[in-house]
Amino acid sequence: MNLISRTWRSSLGRKYVMALTGVALVMFVLGHLAGNLQVLGTPDLINGYAHFLKSKPALLWGARLGLLACVGLHIAAAVSLHLENKAARPQAYARTAANGATTASRTMLVSGLIILAFVVYHLAHFTALLPGINGVGDFSKLTTVWHGEQVADVYAMMILGFQVWWVVLFYLVAVGLLFMHLGHGVSAMFQSLGFRNHLWWPRLTWLARVASIAIFAGYALIPLSIYLRMVGADYAARARQQLAREMAAPAAPLAALPQPRQ
Ligand code: HEM
Repeated sequence: MNLISRTWRSSLGRKYVMALTGVALVMFVLGHLAGNLQVLGTPDLINGYAHFLKSKPALLWGARLGLLACVGLHIAAAVSLHLENKAARPQAYARTAANGATTASRTMLVSGLIILAFVVYHLAHFTALLPGINGVGDFSKLTTVWHGEQVADVYAMMILGFQVWWVVLFYLVAVGLLFMHLGHGVSAMFQSLGFRNHLWWPRLTWLARVASIAIFAGYALIPLSIYLRMVGADYAARARQQLAREMAAPAAPLAALPQPRQ
């Protein structure tokens, strides 16, 4: 307990907390991207993956609680370090762009808080499935048959969800901010963990840049390719009709729609 409170009281300790929780969050962002990219394959692929995750509640809830703890600690450390810096320097610098600070580094707190607001919307959109906020209808009615079992049709939910222009725009803005946040955050994380030396620093800043570009490209590809009807357009049209029928009169589940050929 003593070690925990001593770590939290020192600003160096809080920087470590930010860096280590940052590592965990980047791992989640990478894993989540790999999972979501399966939407570019057949419907069975992502529906099977989502069903697998939901069929392991202990694993799912363990990961969710761990993620929530990381997000909470990451934000608490960031806000308290920010307030401490402000208190130590009550008068702002006359030139805010001084010392070679980039826009990304000066707006870390703001970009982080907007990403948090996006995640809250995103959870309501795709996890809690609140019907009023997706511009389509009740996603919880979208089910399909996967290996003889009735499961949630996550594929239909994603392709219908990303045919709505303002949803796509919101996601693109959020992943753009995530790109800015990670571009600076990943190199700051390496610095806090003590890797700032002549040998490693140029390599690590390069790695941070490449990783944030890859994450941006991967996350932007999903809503864009769906919105441009390059993915799942036929399936979406049938799912939309099925949803309309379902809303009018609850009927049989969205039976296994024919899988599009890849
Ligand atoms: C194109 C971008 C994205 C897509 C298509 C996407 C898709 C999804 C889907 C389908 C789910 C629900 C999974 C389910 O319950 O079956 C989900 C959950 C989630 N997403 Fe995303 N996501 C995207 C971007 C992001 C980003 C950028 C973040 C974080 C910065 C994020 C964080 C989360 C979290 C925390 C959950 C909750 C996981 C859980 O249910 O435990 N997502 N996402």
